[in-house]
Amino acid sequence: MSDISLTVNGKRVSGAAEDRTLLVHFLRENLGLTGTHVGCDTSQCGACVIHVDGKAVKSCTMLAVQASGSNVVTIEGLADGADLHPVQAAFKEHHGLQCGFCTPGMIMAATDMINRHPEGLDEATVRAELEGNICRCTGYHNIVKAILAASETMSSKGKAKQAA
Ligand code: FES
Ligand code: FES
Repeated sequence: MSDISLTVNGKRVSGAAEDRTLLVHFLRENLGLTGTHVGCDTSQCGACVIHVDGKAVKSCTMLAVQASGSNVVTIEGLADGADLHPVQAAFKEHHGLQCGFCTPGMIMAATDMINRHPEGLDEATVRAELEGNICRCTGYHNIVKAILAASETMSSKGKAKQAA
């Protein structure tokens, strides 16, 4: 067992976990953050994507001990109180989900994608970058629409901030 201490959604947390414990299991089972899903055991589906030190990571590919000292954000930490994050709002507005199983990972991957492309995104880039996130329900069309819309909102907010 190792003692793990990290920041999750802005709060310092700690706990003990076996060295083989995956980060996704630590989040779900030790911290009760079940918004991060497990959809495969082959690191392919992307349902487990979270942010570690600002970057999208498949939390089933990382050990909990490796995350000690890191700053982790999960889907539970994305909204600002009652206000949805622009990516969450865009998924809602554009019907970017059906069963919702893939949605937390999609939203965390999309947020990272938009942050890495402050100049904006085009459809081909969104589709290429979603390669690591699998959705069995939607056919992706509305997910792509939602990400493009969120990118637009976030880049215009960024521009408004710069101009202010
Ligand atoms: S659970 Fe499928 S990629 Fe992590
Ligand atoms: S909405 Fe069902 S898996 Fe994507």
